[in-house]
Amino acid sequence: MKSRKVLGVALCCTLLLFAPGVLQAQHDPGPRGGAAGAGGPYPTLSPAEVDLFNQAILRFQEAASVSGNIAGEDDAGLGPTFNGNSCAMCHAQPFIGGTSPGLISPQNPVPNPQVALAKLHNASNTVPSFITPDGPVREARFVRNRDGSPDGGVHDLFTIAGRDDAPGCTLAQPDFAQQLAFNNVIFRIPTPVFGLGLVENTPDETLRANLAATRDARRSLGIGGTFNTSGNDGTITRFGWKGQNKSLLVFAGEAYNVEQGVTNELFPNERSGVFGCVFNPLPEDASGIPGSVSPLADTVSFAAFMRLSAPPTPGPQTASTQKGATLFSAIGCALCHSPSLTTGPSIFTGMGGVTYQPFSDFAVHHMGSDLADGISQGAAGGDQFRTAPLWGVGQRLFFLHDGRTPDLLQVIEDHTDCGGKPSGNEHSSNHDHSQHCSSEANQVIRNFNALTPQQQQDILNFLRSL
Ligand code: HEC
Ligand code: HEC
Repeated sequence: MKSRKVLGVALCCTLLLFAPGVLQAQHDPGPRGGAAGAGGPYPTLSPAEVDLFNQAILRFQEAASVSGNIAGEDDAGLGPTFNGNSCAMCHAQPFIGGTSPGLISPQNPVPNPQVALAKLHNASNTVPSFITPDGPVREARFVRNRDGSPDGGVHDLFTIAGRDDAPGCTLAQPDFAQQLAFNNVIFRIPTPVFGLGLVENTPDETLRANLAATRDARRSLGIGGTFNTSGNDGTITRFGWKGQNKSLLVFAGEAYNVEQGVTNELFPNERSGVFGCVFNPLPEDASGIPGSVSPLADTVSFAAFMRLSAPPTPGPQTASTQKGATLFSAIGCALCHSPSLTTGPSIFTGMGGVTYQPFSDFAVHHMGSDLADGISQGAAGGDQFRTAPLWGVGQRLFFLHDGRTPDLLQVIEDHTDCGGKPSGNEHSSNHDHSQHCSSEANQVIRNFNALTPQQQQDILNFLRSL
């Protein structure tokens, strides 16, 4: 605990120095303006690969309707239940492939598109209370079933009932008001897909070695970390908030069916295929099959777009952002948010042996009672989350798995379940030890709180430069 004492001294002296209130309190400077630093193809790709990317990004934007007969919504297969009608509807900020759009975007200020989608083409949906024009795009999971057994699944917000293109379907929405009253609903917001080909192509050995290299430093700060793995082949799964998903193709197949209701070769069965609500022969998306529209399935195109996309480009560096980067490592943020990883050999031009900056170890960590959502996915339990990659954070609008805040200072404080006092100490608090102070980030957040306001500002400026 020597380091805590040293930081305590630093804090006391700063308070003395700045007591007259010369300094403005540290604050999140907000989403970075200017052009979107993301959304293009990986820079070293061959012309043929760039062509594939350019076709694939169009598919990522195509909007679905029930039978695909509506102009501008000619992708068939929406519903019976859905949260969105195109990948790009939710993956939009700061550019196609990103995260939730929003009104506070400097690049493209728009209200949450789920509000208008609820009633599109005369659909009879009501908008759940947690979907608001100025809030993030969300999907909902229920924690428990009625009998108390674990549920954990996504319950789609909307159904196609009432839509002009779904005559006769009467499927009702889940009773979200009731489930909220039972305290049984948790949320997830979209994560960006930029640069994920590099993540997919990082060998398990590299991820394990990266974690092993910091074992002692992590242990001294109370940080663990384990990998979620595939029940099918035992390799590390690395996509999604809990690192629950194996590959970009699997994620594309799952998202197509779960978010939009479009059945495909990976997920061929309708989720709520009740009588009167299934209008198409299945699967609604398929590749290379006589009669299918295109030789490449939509799922394969979505995966290609994500695999071939470039990682976000950081904004301009300043003296403050550089100090922030150093502090980010010095106080222990980088022990989870790993600054760099290197890909293995790749079939895509120039994407093998690439060192990239995701700011994630792609391991899952116990984050304590304040972030816990009570949902288990694979080996990730109720309070475990994948270290959120921080590349591109500078241009994002909403943070943490449920989108609870747009404020990076709040995000940092939310890492701890110890109340976040500068010299907080679990042994001297009255908190029930089993309920509180179990986040692996607690000591690092104490370190952060012991920094001077200017040093904290440097870290916030650094994050907004990513
Ligand atoms: C209704 C909004 C919505 C739509 C539509 C949507 N997504 Fe997502 N996406 C999400 C959410 C929410 C998550 C986080 C899910 C989780 O991990 O629990 C996510 C996560 C992802 C991830 C994981 C990225 C990472 O960081 O590991 C991928 C890949 C992805 N989506 C691809 C797609 C594709 C491809 C489509 C179109 C078929 C799509 N999504 C459509 C909301 C959406
Ligand atoms: C013990 C590992 C760990 C440490 C230490 C840690 N983080 Fe995190 N961080 C996470 C995890 C896990 C999440 C996702 C949590 C969630 O969404 O519930 C996260 C989320 C974030 C996010 C939000 C990203 C997003 O996609 O919404 C930011 C920003 C962030 N961390 C910054 C920091 C900073 C700055 C520090 C140091 C002061 C830090 N983190 C220390 C594990 C860690």
